[in-house]
Amino acid sequence: MNTSKVIAGVMKWGLWGSKFDTASYEQIIKESIHMGVTTFDHADIYGDYTTEEEFGHVLRKEPSLRQQMQLITKCGIRRPCVNRPQFKIKSYDTSFKHIIESVETSLENLSTDYIDALLIHRPDFIMNADEIAEAFAQLKQQGKVLHFGVSNFTPSQVALLNSRFKVEINQIQASVTYLQPFTDGTLDQCQELGVIPMAWSPLGGGNIFAATDDERILRITAVAEILAAKYQTSADVVLLSWLLQHPSKIIPVLGTSKPARIKAALDATELKMEREEWYMLWRASTGKEVA
Ligand SMILES: NC(=O)c1ccc[n+]([C@@H]2O[C@H](COP(=O)([O-])OP(=O)(O)OC[C@H]3O[C@@H](n4cnc5c(N)ncnc54)[C@H](OP(=O)(O)O)[C@@H]3O)[C@@H](O)[C@H]2O)c1
Repeated sequence: MNTSKVIAGVMKWGLWGSKFDTASYEQIIKESIHMGVTTFDHADIYGDYTTEEEFGHVLRKEPSLRQQMQLITKCGIRRPCVNRPQFKIKSYDTSFKHIIESVETSLENLSTDYIDALLIHRPDFIMNADEIAEAFAQLKQQGKVLHFGVSNFTPSQVALLNSRFKVEINQIQASVTYLQPFTDGTLDQCQELGVIPMAWSPLGGGNIFAATDDERILRITAVAEILAAKYQTSADVVLLSWLLQHPSKIIPVLGTSKPARIKAALDATELKMEREEWYMLWRASTGKEVA
């Protein structure tokens, strides 16, 4: 699947964050596309099932924008909220029926005939790989979804699904504050199987920038600031470039709702730090020298 070099995540554009009106959605969508950030990351649940529809209002108003963007969305979480009173507890559902119904709703809400990539949002502990494959085959055959992947899956869970259909994406939490995929085989597997790793919370959900007395965060920001001064850029660009440096070709899924920060993130795709500098940030995060 072709995506922009960084992806605009929309989780905090609606009810769960900035509470954009249609004009603000339109502005950030158009500015992002103009800068070359053409891929937008959704999930059915964002904004308690309202964000896809709010974004879709812009496409309803100006359908020609659709050809200029790629839409990712996710399914598989049943989240109880005012818009889904039938869900009694939070749970996972990767049944054929749920996947198909969820995609139909996303297509309607996003005001589009097709989704570029559909991800299973979280590993369902009772998922049936054959059933997921059957749902994906039908959606592909109908032209409703072009590419398929997963999110937050362990290497063995990816391997299971990849034995039934080509897993093209694993969207995972990864940042200088969340190193697990660097050590648990997730990023190795991405390179082995040709799975695109997408990193959510690439800036730790913003906690790196909050006022804190957390020693680990202070160590990380101190190194990031030194490198930012050297490369005449900002700390967020340094931290995104740290992810982009990995040979698995990680694509950061940005969480900002500010166009200027999306623009700055593109600078990260141009910055190449020294190997030793990469390890300075690793050491700041782990608090110790590598062995
Ligand atoms: N697959 C999954 O399970 C999953 C889970 C969570 C998220 N996601 C996806 O990943 C996307 C990103 O997640 P995230 O929001 O946690 O990402 P993030 O980029 O790590 O954090 C975004 C937060 O950091 C703040 N921020 C960014 N740059 C900043 C800077 N230079 N200075 C100060 N604050 C800064 C943003 O505020 P401003 O808006 O003010 O810039 C925003 O509140 C989501 O939108 C969603 O699409 C996926």
